[in-house]
Amino acid sequence: MRICNNLNTSICFNYKDIGITYCTLTNASNGKGWPKISDNVFDGEKINWTKFFEERSKEIEAIKNGCERHECKDCQQITDINFCDDRKIHYVLLSPWQICNSNCIYCLGHAEVISAKAPNYYEYYKEYEEPYDMLSIIKDMIANDVLAKDAEIDFAGGEPTLYPKFDEIINFFIDNSFKNIIIHTNNIQYSKAIERGIKENAISLMISIDAGTKKCHEKTKGVKSFDKVWHNFKKYSKARNKNYTMRLCTKYVLVPGINDSEKELEEFIKQSKKNGATQVALNVYNQLLNEMNYEEKLLNHLKQLADFWILKAKEKELPYILFPNIEYVYQKLEKQPF
Ligand SMILES: C[S@@+](CC[C@H](N)C(=O)[O-])C[C@H]1O[C@@H](n2cnc3c(N)ncnc32)[C@H](O)[C@@H]1O
Ligand code: SF4
Ligand code: SF4
Repeated sequence: MRICNNLNTSICFNYKDIGITYCTLTNASNGKGWPKISDNVFDGEKINWTKFFEERSKEIEAIKNGCERHECKDCQQITDINFCDDRKIHYVLLSPWQICNSNCIYCLGHAEVISAKAPNYYEYYKEYEEPYDMLSIIKDMIANDVLAKDAEIDFAGGEPTLYPKFDEIINFFIDNSFKNIIIHTNNIQYSKAIERGIKENAISLMISIDAGTKKCHEKTKGVKSFDKVWHNFKKYSKARNKNYTMRLCTKYVLVPGINDSEKELEEFIKQSKKNGATQVALNVYNQLLNEMNYEEKLLNHLKQLADFWILKAKEKELPYILFPNIEYVYQKLEKQPF
């Protein structure tokens, strides 16, 4: 059966202009994302869950029958497996704003950089108006029993820890026994709710660090935050109990000309090990693969760096993951990772 597992299982709380959508992804083959769910399903305050699943079921049928909407054309997420609609949500992506306290050189997902020292920082919070009340919709989702008990809750952004109701939302999920929460963060802002989630084995962290030394971190992230990031990481790491089975993952996005040296990669692995990471991750920034026309020289450079990084992770006995962009580099060269 032709299905898209993302459509079948997910909901995305996106920022202002995008709103709430079924699909949490952008179709890599045409760059298209879904429009928000219809006014018929969401009146701006509440989601009518019966209508939500009815409309979803129509979209599922359309894909099954090969007459999907244009956003889904040629999407790699469409696969051929069996699927039975249980009328539940299994994956929630919370990406409610683009505001960030970092300015990563590779990131297209942040809109405004707000330094904690800037005079308008707290003013901004006062003035910020939520496009919709995300927490109240989440509460309603749980009250109506449409969120699967083992659902994955994924918080991204912008920088999620700056979201005014971040701790409240995370605490709400933990209070309601959700045990599969993942937070993508730059780790500049410490969160008591994250600390609690780590203590209670409910939270994984995916931390974008992207450098091994203070100097390069500043160049890549656009702000001075290296010491703070690792200080916070150590505190989270200490909060773990013996039975912690989730992930404290540090991530490195390679940007040629900025952080693509063996020295940086080696220092990153050393810092990760020293401060208690349980996993490391490697990626290349998304735009690069489109921009570089797959030049062999650059592909080989990336492969060499990735091989070196894997070697260093293995030496430190750190489990590692490669993101699809890196896997793609190996694929293009018809080589296997080191
Ligand atoms: C948009 S960020 C939001 C969460 C948080 N601010 C952070 O940095 O983790 C989510 C993840 O996307 C990654 N990311 C952002 N722009 C990217 C790009 N152009 N290519 C690859 N990864 C990117 C970041 O490194 C981060 O891990
Ligand atoms: S097919 Fe692709 S674009 Fe369509 S819903 Fe699935 S992931 Fe989204
Ligand atoms: S910290 Fe995250 S959201 Fe902010 S600029 Fe970097 S990647 Fe983008």
